[in-house]
Amino acid sequence: MGSKQSKYPKLIKKINKASNDIRQNDECPQLVKQDDQYVDRMQLFHHVMRCVSNGNFKVPLDEQLKEGGVVVLDVCCGTGTWLSEMASDFPNSNFVGIEKDPIYPEHKPKNVKIVQADVLEKFPFKDDTFDFVYSRLNFFSFSESQWKNHLIKEFVRVLKPGGYLECLDHSGSDNKGAILEKLNVAIEKVLIQAGRCPSLASKFSGIIESEPQMGKVTLTEVTVPIGSWGGKIGDLGLHINMHMMSGLKKGIMHYLKLSEKSLEKLWADYKTEVNTHHTRWKINRYISQKNNN
Ligand SMILES: C[S@@+](CC[C@H](N)C(=O)[O-])C[C@H]1O[C@@H](n2cnc3c(N)ncnc32)[C@H](O)[C@@H]1O
Repeated sequence: MGSKQSKYPKLIKKINKASNDIRQNDECPQLVKQDDQYVDRMQLFHHVMRCVSNGNFKVPLDEQLKEGGVVVLDVCCGTGTWLSEMASDFPNSNFVGIEKDPIYPEHKPKNVKIVQADVLEKFPFKDDTFDFVYSRLNFFSFSESQWKNHLIKEFVRVLKPGGYLECLDHSGSDNKGAILEKLNVAIEKVLIQAGRCPSLASKFSGIIESEPQMGKVTLTEVTVPIGSWGGKIGDLGLHINMHMMSGLKKGIMHYLKLSEKSLEKLWADYKTEVNTHHTRWKINRYISQKNNN
């Protein structure tokens, strides 16, 4: 059987090269293969997030971003779609991304710069550089200790006094049926086995607030419908959800002691269950401001 042709052959080659060049995350080995579907999923997720959030950010910097001179960092910016949209909306401000894999397009708006680097090293920026640090869907790339002892500290270090941090990430699901409960048990085990913390969402405000320079966290929640009951967004939500789960297929089969065929059947039933239960995905948004000196 020949392997499927890549939609982005050059890109996938570059990613594989970069993965060899950049030290692997020993504490948290990569969970899912970075292929065409992964790149597509990240882009799709961006559009879903913007839609359910009614915009690309919530920190109170609209006016300053419009006026110009604001400097923004997107940590682990992936395909850079958020950065490019923000840069087009606010042409007088400057946008920087940091990302280990070159999955962002070569042609970017003039006010976007992407630095290829490992965020587990010291960030390649001076203290007090950014007015706004943004991090989205990065929880499960790192361990709890990497978040507590390195990443949050770097976010705080590179933020200017008075600057804002906005982090958006998975916090579970609402209206779960029995199949999702069962799948979640296996997914949690896969995450733990791979060094991640499945309950990071409930600890994250505390992790930010334990930094003496950061103010109280404002926590809000957005939800994404999963399944056709939620219209077009629900269809996309289910598509993304199924793609994420299929990346963890081996682990789910192992922990649920299921054959591939039985898991496929469970997933088919899950697609019905989300519609009868009106299942939703929950995403937390954490906003905090660095104290003015
Ligand atoms: C789930 S994606 C989220 C991407 C983006 N934040 C978004 O919302 O679309 C996680 C990203 O983190 C990047 N990443 C993982 N470990 C990294 C590291 N040690 N240094 C820099 N980037 C990393 C991955 O390459 C991937 O692009």
